[in-house]
Amino acid sequence: MYEIVKQLEEMRAGARAGGGAKRVEAQHAKGKLTARERIEVLLDEGSFEEWDMFVEHRCSDFAMADQRIPGDGVVTGHGTVNGRTVFVFSQDFTVFGGSLSEPHAEKICKIMDKAIQVGAPVIGLNDSGGARIQEGVASLAGYAEVFQRNVMASGVVPQISLIMGPCAGGAVYSPAMTDYIFMVKDSSYMFVTGPDVVKTVTHETVTHEELGGALTHTSKSGVADLAFENDVEALLEVRRFVDFLPSSNRAPAPVRAGEDPAEREEISLDTLIPSDPAQPYDMKELIGKVVDEGEFFEVQPAYAGNIITGYGRMEGHTVGFVANQPMVLAGCLDIASSIKAARFVRFCDCFNIPIVTFVDVPGFLPGTAQEYGGIIKHGAKLLFAYAEATVPKVTVITRKAYGGAYDVMSSKHIRGDVNYAWPTAEIAVMGPKGAVEIIFRKDLGDPAKIEARTEEYRETFANPFIAASRGFIDDVIMPRRTRWRICHSLRMLRDKKLENPWKKHDNLPL
Ligand code: HXC
Repeated sequence: MYEIVKQLEEMRAGARAGGGAKRVEAQHAKGKLTARERIEVLLDEGSFEEWDMFVEHRCSDFAMADQRIPGDGVVTGHGTVNGRTVFVFSQDFTVFGGSLSEPHAEKICKIMDKAIQVGAPVIGLNDSGGARIQEGVASLAGYAEVFQRNVMASGVVPQISLIMGPCAGGAVYSPAMTDYIFMVKDSSYMFVTGPDVVKTVTHETVTHEELGGALTHTSKSGVADLAFENDVEALLEVRRFVDFLPSSNRAPAPVRAGEDPAEREEISLDTLIPSDPAQPYDMKELIGKVVDEGEFFEVQPAYAGNIITGYGRMEGHTVGFVANQPMVLAGCLDIASSIKAARFVRFCDCFNIPIVTFVDVPGFLPGTAQEYGGIIKHGAKLLFAYAEATVPKVTVITRKAYGGAYDVMSSKHIRGDVNYAWPTAEIAVMGPKGAVEIIFRKDLGDPAKIEARTEEYRETFANPFIAASRGFIDDVIMPRRTRWRICHSLRMLRDKKLENPWKKHDNLPL
């Protein structure tokens, strides 16, 4: 017995040593934690249960038979974040560069299968040189097995990818199919083809960071959601983020009741809207003043800033917020913001998270770039996402709600449950100036007449009362009482039941 326990301890020590002291040192020298150190930061202390510590590769080509390291480049298992179970895999760059072999993939698949069965999120810590080159097609098969599980898990359990090192080639498609991607600045990158191939094919000279670093993907491509300064910050923010999410599509999000009263009034909101309709204001101020304790977890803050997406709590319950941002492009909907918000709305709907929408939208962004880029199809994504969503939907129009964008932004007509407007709301087919220039085109040579017509149009339509008289707006509310009204609406909607007709799946305009 003693011998076998000793052997076990030795084997465990071997696995824990990863690729050895030198490679661990090199990992630290790059400012990166090791796979195991990352798990320690991510999970509640002492909660990690490791699986498959003794799994080794089965490859004998290229002298691989003499190079076997228990665990084979990935640490897998489950543990808890604030007491709730999560499954985790953490690629170990010190072992064959974290490259993915067939057994490495099998380990990831095992925890994914179990996560789907028990209904717990999967958190992947990616730090890998890609497919294990010595293995060839076996490793590609391994990737495809992971991809298949990413798809099966989608909408069943939340999947979060944290990119903490290289993630290149086809390997990017596993994170790409997960719900959220977080990256670490300067030490992580994602691209389909690296700088050398880019140089050969397109003659562009570009660094790893420029091509696929955290700033590129959180601000230019929109592939990633958030960028963090270092490993520790990224892991701690994943902990905070997971706390907003339900464990699966069959469990509610955790309720974190605080001290913030539902009936809290914010007098300053009464003067948030500037008297000049062309002047912007910061929609984030409204969100911050409405959510519990002002805590808002924004996702994709650096991408498509004309729409804001993120999570907060109302009376302790998780809510997804979508809001037009008048500070960027006057809050217009364009291709990027439509895609960003559509994906957000669909995530909330998958996981039964109610959606609160703040509307101040002058319409869709005009221009050839938008039309040639397919704003018709991409704008339809957001419309589709809101219209198919069956979760509670509460909408507040603060100022402009013009044209098709009025319909899109969770209007009553696409099953908004409770639709409020502030007294400053303007709900019309278009802004007064544009409207008058079309319907009174013959008077364009007479500025006084145009001015009078514009004023007439503004007085007639630039208010919430016509919409309210048709029942499209349930009530015109005082801005200061916005939190109060939303909390009460969400409370009323807590047991809402609404089902779409049976279908295999829908055909979202992709
Ligand atoms: C086997 C690998 C490896 C790989 C790295 N290593 N990548 N071993 N297969 N894919 C090993 C190295 O041999 C080295 O071993 C150790 O990991 C660390 O690598 P370094 O190159 O020393 O590290 P660094 O300088 O930081 O460079 C990291 C890197 C580079 C940029 C990731 O290693 C690299 O370019 N690797 C190859 C990437 C690649 O082309 N992968 C295949 C992509 S195609 P020692 O023993 O010296 O420590 C792909 C297809 C997926 O992934 C398809 C899915 C559909």
